[in-house]
Amino acid sequence: MKSYEALARVYDRLNGEVDYAAIATFYEAAFDRYRIKPQLMLDLGCGTGSMTLELARRGYDMIGVDASAEMLSRAYERMWSTGQSGILFLEQDMRSFELYGTVGAVVSTLDCVNYLTGDGDLDRCFSLVHNYLDPNGVFLFDVNTPYKFKHVYGDNAYILEEEDGSAYCGWQNDYDQQSGICHFLLSVFTEESDGRYTRLDEEQTERCYTQEQLTAALQQAGFTDIAFFGDLDFSQPTDQTERWYVAARCQKNEETV
Ligand SMILES: C[S@@+](CC[C@H](N)C(=O)[O-])C[C@H]1O[C@@H](n2cnc3c(N)ncnc32)[C@H](O)[C@@H]1O
Repeated sequence: MKSYEALARVYDRLNGEVDYAAIATFYEAAFDRYRIKPQLMLDLGCGTGSMTLELARRGYDMIGVDASAEMLSRAYERMWSTGQSGILFLEQDMRSFELYGTVGAVVSTLDCVNYLTGDGDLDRCFSLVHNYLDPNGVFLFDVNTPYKFKHVYGDNAYILEEEDGSAYCGWQNDYDQQSGICHFLLSVFTEESDGRYTRLDEEQTERCYTQEQLTAALQQAGFTDIAFFGDLDFSQPTDQTERWYVAARCQKNEETV
């Protein structure tokens, strides 16, 4: 199955420990640091909408972009079931998305940028983010670090399990340090009403980026004030940090605005 086609069924259940509110609070603190007050924001790779909905609850006007129809359909369901409306969810690719105008900030949560695996994908995506940001707008995203690819993912296999046993995900990694490409083979088991389990398999691919590669691509796209943090408290990364939180400001020449 396609990336996130099977996983969409269980994504929120298996990701229950992710503290989206804490990440949203970090984003708001970053807006303060960069002295911006965005109103309209893009959630790039919004998935099932956890961050999009959290930021909408905090009063921002939200657009969510994701390539997976299955993930977006969950996002829609959650928007309506939580009594929210007015979020614009778009089924688009991060490498070629189009918006109706510019936004004050772009956020991209939980290693969406690592899903840009082809040569030139990072440049294409960052250039579009720059294009659709207001002058001085801020781009906030996180990535899995080279340390995590090498020491946590590696060629390891593990099982993710929902507490009540209604969903399992078998996870087999295959990381090639030379190319930086990591394949994940996922087998998702979900319990049906008769107690039997349905199995769906899918493959995902992430690419490992160094700080130098990310910085070069951001600068090339026109970003300045680039900062890497090791945690949501703005601390410096260490050589064992597993996730970098990256912030960058969109610089635009007045004539091109
Ligand atoms: C790990 S999930 C994160 C989802 C969401 N941001 C969250 O925090 O829960 C990565 C998401 O990136 C999306 N994605 C991967 N490649 C993409 C692409 N080229 N264009 C748009 N979305 C993409 C996937 O469909 C998936 O929803």
